[in-house]
Amino acid sequence: MCIGIPTETVYGLAANAYSDKAVKKIFEIKKRPKSNPLIVHYLNISNLRKDCLLNKTFLKLFKKFCPGPITFVLKLRKNSKISKNVTNKKNTLAVRFPKHIILRNLLKNLDYPLAAPSANISSRVSAVKANDIKEDFGKKISFILNGGKAKIGLESTIIDLTKYPRILRLGGLEVSKIEKVIGKKIKRVINPKKKFSPGQSMLHYSPGIPVRTNIKIPNKNEAYILIKKKDREKKSNYFYLSKKNNLNEAAQNLYSLLREIKKKGYKSIAVEKIPNSGIGQSINDRLKRASKFKIV
Ligand code: TXA
Ligand code: MG
Repeated sequence: MCIGIPTETVYGLAANAYSDKAVKKIFEIKKRPKSNPLIVHYLNISNLRKDCLLNKTFLKLFKKFCPGPITFVLKLRKNSKISKNVTNKKNTLAVRFPKHIILRNLLKNLDYPLAAPSANISSRVSAVKANDIKEDFGKKISFILNGGKAKIGLESTIIDLTKYPRILRLGGLEVSKIEKVIGKKIKRVINPKKKFSPGQSMLHYSPGIPVRTNIKIPNKNEAYILIKKKDREKKSNYFYLSKKNNLNEAAQNLYSLLREIKKKGYKSIAVEKIPNSGIGQSINDRLKRASKFKIV
């Protein structure tokens, strides 16, 4: 079985990570290519030890940031019970310790970890509310745990720790904070030529209509996304990401705003320049990928 779960980043589509059958269902429902491995969600380290080899950098980052919006790619133990369908038979595993209290309570009651991709149709905007999942999947998902609107609103930051630390995806945790703990600059491999993290494919996080970035003046009839509300023009096609010019608030609102604009029937979206600092880097990463959408 496969259910909708809340996390502090975005909602997930979860199943028993030890069951081939349950994991297969996730790929079917999401129409996700089998080659794109899933993140496995654990309650704590003692459960993880059975499945992965832990290293010093992992332990340091775990202590500082977990539970929270960071995913680690680690080496998988040979005798781990993780279904081969999770990893596409690779010898590494992406793992994360979610913070949302409802999900943590669920994990406490299970004797297996949960494999869960973001709960959206492949290449589209992730779900940040229980209702988003209902809209995307309808009756295909029988149970959704409603945990309110996701606090962070963007997916976790992914760091590969199998060799030297490498950032594979920008996300809810700022890379500069991770660098502070590690004590040096971390390489970013966020557009890898070799697709070892296929979710990094250039078209992703798309609302299903064209998105243009860094726009000063929108076209007529185009939805226009701006960062802050104060002192700005009130027009029916203007949409604001934040009330107080706060980038964290903007991140939290981004996906729901993209969904709302699509629902209103707009045929394209223009976005003003978003400051590329802090979580603004992750917002810009998502917008850049969303902007690869083309009508064919
Ligand atoms: O915040 C999040 O991370 C959310 C919530 C639900 O936890 N999950 C999420 O999962 O964003 P998903 O499947 O949409 O994105 C997972 C990314 C994909 O880009 C996938 O390719 C990458 O993680 N990934 C998974 N396993 C990997 C591995 N062993 N090596 C490298 N990349 C991996
Ligand atoms: Mg996803």
